[in-house]
Amino acid sequence: MHYLLNDLNTPVMRLLEEAITQPRRLIREYEKVWKGQFDYPGGHLEHYYAIRELFNAGETMPAHMLYLLARCVKGSVRYGRDGNFNQSPDKRRHGTSPQTLALSVLPLSSLLTGKTTFSALDYREFLKQAQPGDVVYMDPPYQGVSSVRDTRYISGVSYEAFAEAVEDLESRNIDYLISYDGSCGEKAYGKDLPTSLRCTKVMLKAGLSSQATLLGRKAVTYEALYVSNRLLANARPLPQQETFLEALA
Ligand SMILES: C[S@@+](CC[C@H](N)C(=O)[O-])C[C@H]1O[C@@H](n2cnc3c(N)ncnc32)[C@H](O)[C@@H]1O
Repeated sequence: MHYLLNDLNTPVMRLLEEAITQPRRLIREYEKVWKGQFDYPGGHLEHYYAIRELFNAGETMPAHMLYLLARCVKGSVRYGRDGNFNQSPDKRRHGTSPQTLALSVLPLSSLLTGKTTFSALDYREFLKQAQPGDVVYMDPPYQGVSSVRDTRYISGVSYEAFAEAVEDLESRNIDYLISYDGSCGEKAYGKDLPTSLRCTKVMLKAGLSSQATLLGRKAVTYEALYVSNRLLANARPLPQQETFLEALA
């Protein structure tokens, strides 16, 4: 089995590549950056801003992006209009420790090293190489708020262009799985993919919404997964299928 990983965001792909092919070097470098916050002259917040500035100036060390991800508010990436990473530091936490980080990075690397190719292309360009027999998984930017610029991603993806790309996969007999929005409580997010596609929408129960819980409400979040019908027909039943069926729209 060979895996091709792609995201338009080059620093994200550089980080994934380092985590998979050079996990020990990544952990070592992250440890240096992470420890740097404790004796930084202006304090740990200034240290974060200094690393963010380096990153926005084009510094390409994967450990820097990882540190920003681990150290920023709610671990949520935010980009400004100029494309700069502009999320603030979490003032109460110091970010994942290098030891905890190693517990995620090392198993990820042993699963994928030697079996993975990396690229940072637009998804339409990337999909050109797909062939019958391949399975494509896509997790495009959240559609729910696509009418406004979404600061979570360096780029959005238009519904129409995306639907067209999926249609093209179908016409080439390529199987796919797509995570595409969902619902929380009574509220549904995003438009369904066109019914003309030969795929099935499965609603996966993702648990209680932490955002709603914070607001004192209980709301279950469902994530929509579109599965090409041929792939579904060939799939073995999953142990938790009853939970999935319960949630079918
Ligand atoms: C919902 S996130 C994927 C998150 C990922 N599955 C994870 O678990 O970390 C959507 C991703 O789509 C990427 N993206 C946005 N526009 C793209 C494009 N035109 N081609 C390829 N990737 C794109 C963004 O950079 C972002 O990382």
